[in-house]
Amino acid sequence: MDQQVMRDIVEQAGRAPSIHNTQPWRFVAHGNALEVWTDPERGLDVLDPTGRARHLSCGAALLHARVAAAARGYETAVTLEPDPTQPEHLATLRVTEGAGRTAEDQRLADVISERRTTRAAFSTEPLAADVVAALQQAAHVEGCWLRLVETPDDAIAVAVLLARADELEKADPAYRDELHRWTGRGDKARDGIPAPAAESDESPRGSTFVLRDFVSDRDIAASSPSPEEPPPAEKPLVVVLGTRDDDVRSWLEAGQGLGRLLLTAASLGVAASPMTQPLEVPDTRARLTAELGLLGHPQMLLRLGYGGEGGGTETPRRPVQDILTQPDE
Ligand SMILES: Cc1cc2nc3c(=O)[nH]c(=O)nc-3n(C[C@H](O)[C@H](O)[C@H](O)COP(=O)(O)O)c2cc1C
Repeated sequence: MDQQVMRDIVEQAGRAPSIHNTQPWRFVAHGNALEVWTDPERGLDVLDPTGRARHLSCGAALLHARVAAAARGYETAVTLEPDPTQPEHLATLRVTEGAGRTAEDQRLADVISERRTTRAAFSTEPLAADVVAALQQAAHVEGCWLRLVETPDDAIAVAVLLARADELEKADPAYRDELHRWTGRGDKARDGIPAPAAESDESPRGSTFVLRDFVSDRDIAASSPSPEEPPPAEKPLVVVLGTRDDDVRSWLEAGQGLGRLLLTAASLGVAASPMTQPLEVPDTRARLTAELGLLGHPQMLLRLGYGGEGGGTETPRRPVQDILTQPDE
């Protein structure tokens, strides 16, 4: 295997979404195998003590690697948790000369560098039925389910649990410290959420769904003037992505489901932002499961819609040489 191809694949993998843009992954390439490892040093001890969100992030990077390899015409085969004695070695992706790319692989690979988390207000236009079906299919292909939050009762339950979890998290000084360490790190930082990406939530949104406030020392009175006219009510599609079980393998599957869902959304011109606060607090996660009558475990909560002014702000990534080891070189 040409090791430049591996570098290109890892560059695309590294563009995956990750919790607070922690990029909690590293890769080892030898022969035709690309190993995906997690870096627990990049974990969030307060927000994510079990490592669930860290594994989801690595699963999304694995999906990006699969799509990037397939779009180059390679056949891919994944082994999850290949070595029980090495829990940080999450997956091995084998990349071999293969059957050739599909149009779907190409469509998803084409939007890897354009996809962004969009925290701005969405337009009032609802998603078309065939778009929603494509998003559901993206989750199913990766062994996940996607539950649409459609009825007014479900929407209220989600909004209340979201607000509750957001409040509980923000009240914890350790959570605020951790968030602060990963936001506004300056122009040179290659990870974390830069101020412009974090601040895109300042535009008034006609929505009951509370997005994470990354600007922990925001002057609320100054930054949120009461608009004379209420903003138009956005109509996001709110979805829960979930799995049957709740172990490392399920988290990696959920991450791949998330990765495919977000690339599918981007390829269809649909903006997305996760709002995962209720899944990070055990009590609100359990209540979300009960109140929506979910069969299994919620892993991601997202809003999807059109618009969002310019499609989100680019966040930095660590260069390939910092995340890839090539022992054969
Ligand atoms: C598991 C997970 C949870 C996330 N939760 C949130 C969230 O609650 N709020 C939010 O605005 N973004 C959330 N994100 C998005 C990340 O902040 C985003 O992916 C990261 O900053 C990189 O930016 P990008 O997606 O634009 O490339 C989450 C991402 C992942 C993978």
